[in-house]
Amino acid sequence: MKNVLVTGGAGFIGSNFIRYILDGDKVDFVLNLDLLTYAGNLENLKSVESDPRYCFVKGDIRDRDLLRSLFEKYNFDTVIHFAAESHVDRSIVDPGIFLSTNVQGTQALLDTAKAHWKLKPDDKYSREYRAGVRYLQVSTDEVYGALEKTGMFTEETPLAPNSPYSASKASADLLVRAYYQTYGLPINITRCSNNYGPYQFPEKLIPLMIHNAQQDKPLPVYGDGMQIRDWLHVKDHCTAIYTVLEKGIPGEVYNIGGNNEKANLEIVRIILTELNKPESLITYVKDRPGHDRRYAIDNTKITSQLGWKPLYSFEAGIHETVAWYLNHLEWVNRITSGAYQSYYHEMYGNS
Ligand code: NAD
Ligand code: TYD
Repeated sequence: MKNVLVTGGAGFIGSNFIRYILDGDKVDFVLNLDLLTYAGNLENLKSVESDPRYCFVKGDIRDRDLLRSLFEKYNFDTVIHFAAESHVDRSIVDPGIFLSTNVQGTQALLDTAKAHWKLKPDDKYSREYRAGVRYLQVSTDEVYGALEKTGMFTEETPLAPNSPYSASKASADLLVRAYYQTYGLPINITRCSNNYGPYQFPEKLIPLMIHNAQQDKPLPVYGDGMQIRDWLHVKDHCTAIYTVLEKGIPGEVYNIGGNNEKANLEIVRIILTELNKPESLITYVKDRPGHDRRYAIDNTKITSQLGWKPLYSFEAGIHETVAWYLNHLEWVNRITSGAYQSYYHEMYGNS
């Protein structure tokens, strides 16, 4: 891994990943291509912006001319594709941008990598180019749909997305797979469970609840609050992606998760305890349409075949995360002013 293109590096996971790979000598050069939507914020990368190995370009992954010129100029050997519209609630209000960014954006990137790496419909010539280059699609467990009370998602679980967001991510995954099968593009797909940690936009459950509780505002719990998510610290996600880049077999999918299932209500209560705030702040609101009941990742493949394991316990991770948000109140206030509008505001007005 020498010259790396990271897309969406100004977002939550991408910015954590860029800081992680610039720590030590894992890469020679990283270009961060990000459109800086409401979710992208260069403040997340202040600590690396003067690193000579780092470069930022503001641009759209759907801009094929821009992609071509960047590949020509920097000769990337590795692409790590984070850029996406990432919030389920927003996808319910406005699915179009999810299809455009997540599906067409992925296709533009795949086409550009394929052309630059001179891959043709699978033949001996293209196979020779597999060595030394890699395209990694950062995907989500949500492509598998919802689980009942038992069972876990394995890499063989059929795709059955339920939200416009997860449908767009599943569609992108299928395109990535097709470019491997047809053109020999050396890909991996990683499907991770819900992340938490520093720099997450406060529209997602954990930072939103911290933000509201800290201001004594109501905590909107959808439905009965007994939906289950499988939480992983973002830094563990970053080490997993790096492990797949280093050791993953081309063409393979790897699930990423830390065996940490929690009901939403349990998460909210943990946050209230951390902040010493009353349970009376919990407010049950109308459920999300098509709300997936339970996610749980079987991480056997990545742990047993690639030797990855998560380092954070949830207790330590959430404690550190709450402290981080309390120490970054100005960051939170800055990014939630401006164009940000909550899903509930969009769907139900201010009531
Ligand atoms: P995020 O919303 O915080 O960041 C997305 C970034 O993509 C932003 O910086 C945004 O400006 C950029 N972007 C959006 N459209 C773009 C475009 N057209 N061109 C260039 N840049 C664009 O998202 P995140 O939570 O960091 O998620 C990153 C990736 O990880 C996504 O692909 C998401 O599906 C996946 N993922 C997220 C989670 C999670 O819990 N957050 C879990 C599993 C997988
Ligand atoms: P979210 O952070 O949006 O992630 P995802 O939908 O991708 O899993 O939501 C996590 C869970 O928390 C999900 O079950 C929806 C629920 N939720 C609430 O109950 N209230 C909220 O205000 C939000 C944002 C989410």
